[in-house]
Amino acid sequence: MIIGVPMEIKTDESRVALTVGGVAELIHHGHTVYIQKGAGIGSGFPDTLYESVGGKILSTIEEVYAIADMIMKVKEPIEAEYKLVKENQVIFTYFHFASSEPLTKAMIESKSICIAYETVEQADRSLPLLVPMSEVAGRMSVQQGAKYLEKPIKGRGILLGGVPGVQPAKVLVLGGGIVGKQAAKMAAGLGADVTIMDISLPRLRQLDDVMAANVTTIMSNQYNIEQAVQESDLIIGAVLIPGRKAPRLVTREMLKLMRPGTVLVDVAVDQGGCFETTKATTHRDPTYIIDDVVHYCVANMPGAVPYTSTVGLTNATFPYAIQLANKGWVKACKENKELLLGLNIIKGDIVYEGVAEAFELPYVDVNTVFENEIAI
Ligand SMILES: NC(=O)c1ccc[n+]([C@@H]2O[C@H](COP(=O)([O-])OP(=O)(O)OC[C@H]3O[C@@H](n4cnc5c(N)ncnc54)[C@H](O)[C@@H]3O)[C@@H](O)[C@H]2O)c1
Repeated sequence: MIIGVPMEIKTDESRVALTVGGVAELIHHGHTVYIQKGAGIGSGFPDTLYESVGGKILSTIEEVYAIADMIMKVKEPIEAEYKLVKENQVIFTYFHFASSEPLTKAMIESKSICIAYETVEQADRSLPLLVPMSEVAGRMSVQQGAKYLEKPIKGRGILLGGVPGVQPAKVLVLGGGIVGKQAAKMAAGLGADVTIMDISLPRLRQLDDVMAANVTTIMSNQYNIEQAVQESDLIIGAVLIPGRKAPRLVTREMLKLMRPGTVLVDVAVDQGGCFETTKATTHRDPTYIIDDVVHYCVANMPGAVPYTSTVGLTNATFPYAIQLANKGWVKACKENKELLLGLNIIKGDIVYEGVAEAFELPYVDVNTVFENEIAI
């Protein structure tokens, strides 16, 4: 199979879909890999390194799309790329279709095969291609929070871990899933006094068993949140109700109860955010202040640490990519239920119910499409 890796052209995106190791492995299996010039630079993979394992470099994004049977990307195609996607081409990337009607319609029109990272699902309902980015965002939320707690950037002016003889900062983590667990681990490691709140008692039990002694678990409810925000220095929003908008756990009224310079990091901003005052920000202008409370609400946090994110992401995507390359998309998806759930649009038909529902477009059962594929 011919695999193409274009450069990510979305603003502030420096990740790349294949590492040098991934390219080497695909070539070892008899595939040809074309990489757009400079695509790996932001993640620490210069063209020469790809070439050293047999990867072929193409100068333009048009050439990469034109030659490839399968395109591997990180972010969804943006408008400039819509017309480059070819009929029958497999596009394996994050799509988040339900949040963009123009993208959905463009991919329907392209007649390509769209396999979305975010809907590849394991038997226990976990989403293996979202986990690594949640891990990055969780760890990063503490790094960012610590920075914005500094006085010159309008924070409270407190060091997370304190020093001998001085109390550490208090960190409140709302949601104890992947993001929350990694955030709590980092904050605890730095010596902060950490509280995790979740609505799942089994989850709180699990966290209580594995977390350090400076982490307390508390049931999440409105009263407990209102009490905790008053004495927290850093509050991290890490809740998720799958397929729904994030619940608004911290109201605008609660900001008045917080001390000036408190920092809110809303990792859940991509699902609408769990603070009432959340609005999405970018890496270029990541924070804003309301009622003396600093808000950091960057929707693509992992994009700022591409060296880590690219390798974390490709560690998870590669096992699926190699199946698609070796078997072709029909056989690979039929033999692997996890990958099957990644199929969103096949040659103009929406085969993922949530996407069809989002825009009231017709939904086609994936098995019907498979029958047609075999008949061809
Ligand atoms: N901003 C970014 O760059 C970025 C990157 C990765 C993930 N995210 C987002 O971070 C969020 C969390 O992701 P995750 O992978 O940790 O999800 P997860 O499903 O692993 O964890 C979510 C947790 O929230 C808990 N929860 C639900 N309602 C709650 C409530 N009312 N109070 C307290 N806890 C509650 C759930 O019980 C669960 O444990 C998602 O919205 C995800 O999309 C954002």
